[in-house]
Amino acid sequence: MSFPHLRMRRLRRTPKIREMVREVRIDLDDLIYPIFVEEGVDHRVPVGAMPGIFRLPVEEAAEEARSIVSLGVPAVVLFGIPSRKDELGSSAYDEYGVVQNTIRAIKKAATDDLVIITDVCLCEYTSHGHCGVVKDGKLLNDPTLEILEKVAVSHGRAGADVVGPSGMIDGQVGAVRRALDNAGFEDVAIMSYSAKHASNMYGPFREAAGATPQFGDRKSYQMDYSNPNEALREVSLDVQEGADIVMVKPALAYLDVIFRVKSKFDLPVAAFNVSGEYAMVKAAAEKGWIDEAKAILEILTGIKRAGADMIVTYFAKDVAKILKQ
Ligand code: PBG
Ligand code: ZN
Repeated sequence: MSFPHLRMRRLRRTPKIREMVREVRIDLDDLIYPIFVEEGVDHRVPVGAMPGIFRLPVEEAAEEARSIVSLGVPAVVLFGIPSRKDELGSSAYDEYGVVQNTIRAIKKAATDDLVIITDVCLCEYTSHGHCGVVKDGKLLNDPTLEILEKVAVSHGRAGADVVGPSGMIDGQVGAVRRALDNAGFEDVAIMSYSAKHASNMYGPFREAAGATPQFGDRKSYQMDYSNPNEALREVSLDVQEGADIVMVKPALAYLDVIFRVKSKFDLPVAAFNVSGEYAMVKAAAEKGWIDEAKAILEILTGIKRAGADMIVTYFAKDVAKILKQ
């Protein structure tokens, strides 16, 4: 037999053939779009390091949700920026808080088929910017759980479909599950930020959400990015505590973790393509250094190929437009 006897290029010959043999594709149904909602403002405010992303007043968030449904994106995750912060983040569980009001406004805007996910954390609501109760410079685990329970229940009461405990507080999934069940919200699902790393890629988000820690860092609760086995232990615990969906965050420098989680566990895996990852692409594209649309598809395909069933991404609207063309 002459060499080469197997010609791999046969299936790369034309666009149609390539389309037929494609193994992984980005589907709009895989995407979750983050929305920032700010309390007590009457106009949208652009986020500096995130071109195309705004902090929206509540009414505009409801309109945005409608446009997201019409683009074909199935889900949003809401981040609230309250007008009042305190030591304990108590505005996070206010029945008429910014996220609670937004959930109801979106439901009223007749976007029933939109999946509403909420972020259950305190960093946007605490005066010190940490994700829980702080005493003498330390984040207290169990007192934080009590507050997170109230936050999750208030989101359930307002009509959230899914809550996402994101503070890396030990026991948060179990506590939130129990609280939701006790309050009669057993149908509210939990998407746990199980393996959330202390990353350098959250900067633009912290500006957007006004959630920069006022002292220290988040390394006593978010994971060290050098520890993939620990990430599996975190996921395993969240599964035991009743998570319905587990998440790895960020996505790009963590594709191995996504792959290992998907290989080991048989529940849906989400990946959070975070603000810094978005900013890098937008900045390079603005300079004309990369083709933005093509880079977005390549990046999201890579995250999906690693094993993510769904991707939280600020690119969701861009993808809807790219796929339509
Ligand atoms: C905090 C939280 C963070 C993000 C969402 N919720 C990270 C942080 O500030 O530590 C990051 C999202 C992003 O960067 O896009 N609970
Ligand atoms: Zn937080």
